[in-house]
Amino acid sequence: MKLGVNIDHIATLRNARKINEPNPLMALEILKQAGAEQVTIHLREDRRHMNDFDAENIIKNSFLPVNMECSVNEEIIDIICSLKPHRATLVPEKREEVTTEGGLDTIKNEKRIKNAIEKLHKNDIEASLFIDPDFEQIKKSKELNAEMIELHTGKFANIFLALNSNINQTPFKLYENIDKKTLKKELEIELNLLKDASKLAKDLELEIAAGHGLNYQNVEEILKIKEITELNIGHSIIANALFTGLFEAVKKMKKIING
Ligand code: PXP
Repeated sequence: MKLGVNIDHIATLRNARKINEPNPLMALEILKQAGAEQVTIHLREDRRHMNDFDAENIIKNSFLPVNMECSVNEEIIDIICSLKPHRATLVPEKREEVTTEGGLDTIKNEKRIKNAIEKLHKNDIEASLFIDPDFEQIKKSKELNAEMIELHTGKFANIFLALNSNINQTPFKLYENIDKKTLKKELEIELNLLKDASKLAKDLELEIAAGHGLNYQNVEEILKIKEITELNIGHSIIANALFTGLFEAVKKMKKIING
């Protein structure tokens, strides 16, 4: 199973201070040393985390293949084509969302996706489509000539969280008043959708990635789906990195202060 690490939130942290650190570029060597096979970044239309300079630098300097998430907006696709990452993963984008909610609707956006994929292919960039585990979306992805799909695991992750944590503390109001038995059933339904979707995609000779909301706890279930060959994980890895690194960071400052 390949791991792509989404490092957008290093840029989120940097942008909070509007200075140069932490620099996402510095993560590349560490990702490689730690065994990740891919770096994933999202150049959003509103540039809320990665900016054009980050994207250019990361693609130029990465030892790992770069998977670039982006919307089907023509201007963005042209930028991606000029930057030439290893792969572009087309995702839906809404300005007001906190993160990518739901998969790309390949049927509703067929024409724009077709144009985007044609442009990407002309520039030797692989195309992946970030979709919900839905048969029609998968068939359309194949028809549109994508090499790969990435199955959206966000719904699975949200139900898993609601089931395994204090429900009052989760931001997912959607699952607030649902009892554990029903949540378990919902989780099973979502997992079965992901399994069946993966089987269909494999039959159609699409490569299959999965991502969104995955963490140390819930990834076990996804690993059981053998057709999935790549995971893209961001928030939970970057969040954990703060704590695994905090001890050394404080110790270093204390050493400087105490001499
Ligand atoms: N895959 C895609 C297509 C995404 O849009 C995102 C979020 O940017 C991820 C994976 C990573 O999700 P998370 O940060 O929840 O691990």
